[in-house]
Amino acid sequence: MLSFNSMKVLKCFVISILIISCSKDSDNVSDLTDNNNGSGNGNITNSITYQPENYLKDIANFPIGNVVSVNRLNNSQFTDILKKDFNSITAEWQMKMRSIFNGPDNYNFSHGNTIVNFAKNNNIRVFGHALIWHESIPDWLQSFQGSDEEFEELIENYIKATVTHFAKEKTTINGQEVSVVAGWDVVNEAFTTGAENAIFRKKLGSDYVEKCFRWAREADPNVKLFYNDYSLESNSNKTQNVISLVNDFKSRNIPIDGIGLQMHTDYLNPSISIIEANVQSIINLGLLVHFSELDITVNKDRAITTLTYERARTQELRFKDIVTIYSNIPNNQKFGITMWGIKDDDSWLLNHHNNQNEYPLLMDKNYNYKIAHRGFAEGLK
Ligand code: XIL
Repeated sequence: MLSFNSMKVLKCFVISILIISCSKDSDNVSDLTDNNNGSGNGNITNSITYQPENYLKDIANFPIGNVVSVNRLNNSQFTDILKKDFNSITAEWQMKMRSIFNGPDNYNFSHGNTIVNFAKNNNIRVFGHALIWHESIPDWLQSFQGSDEEFEELIENYIKATVTHFAKEKTTINGQEVSVVAGWDVVNEAFTTGAENAIFRKKLGSDYVEKCFRWAREADPNVKLFYNDYSLESNSNKTQNVISLVNDFKSRNIPIDGIGLQMHTDYLNPSISIIEANVQSIINLGLLVHFSELDITVNKDRAITTLTYERARTQELRFKDIVTIYSNIPNNQKFGITMWGIKDDDSWLLNHHNNQNEYPLLMDKNYNYKIAHRGFAEGLK
């Protein structure tokens, strides 16, 4: 039997060993080991950011994109950072109908032109987004009082004028002359209640999606035509709708080249195997696949007010998994991955979810590379 005193000595010994090993662990917070959640340590900030060894476009075998607006293109800090990682751009809103379509035969292409010129001067591709979206209808068109035939003529003219205009600016890739604007989301988010009730369906008829694709193809025989939607990676009913649409189009020779999966996802849900299965069923259609608006939320539960290491690390792994799924797509079906924003505080989600403490992108608000960027890069290997 140990005496009371020797018990005390033993207890002290065990406690000292524990303290020493704990302090060793906390020195290692920035080692980014999986079992380290970094909580309660002053090094947390260091571990959430990192210095990239590679820029994304340099290690990818497909285009890597991001969103722009004209005012951001005037900010050299933004454009310097953009040009390092990305070789494809999408207008966040300035090539949507609400920005372009001012009235019958009245189109304002000026913002789009600025974006296209910037891209051309920097060997960057432009992706057109989006010709028809029920959330970007100009007020005058929303309250249009004319006949259905007149409405149809307006929309046909709009699609043809816009596609034709943006097909004009050319660049040379691998000795071939191509348009700077490589593709268009022709219809965005048709499989939603909003679109079901919107003016396009009401006035153009239930076959309005195919009409829009035909008009876009008539305007430009070469530009890639996409159907784009959200939750395709998580909602297999919606994915099934898209599959039926494409099969129907194929059987009736209606032009369509690709599917855009927006990929507004979350760091926890759904499981990677669900994402993989839904993406696979889209890949099976044999069309181009675009992850068109990627971001990954980490604070839907609003439990944090600054990004924690634990969530940043889980987000990093999720970026890696999602990019890996994309990397495994057959090369001839890869159109690219487009991120929906550069730095966390620029994200549309801050307003859309009305949560200022959201961190869905690859850089923090001070343009530091988050470890999310490392996850993206890992997924490209
Ligand atoms: C968002 C933009 O990020 C916002 O700046 C704009 O005010 C509204 O649209 N799905 C889409 C995108 O297809 O066009 C949306 O972009 C985000 C959701």
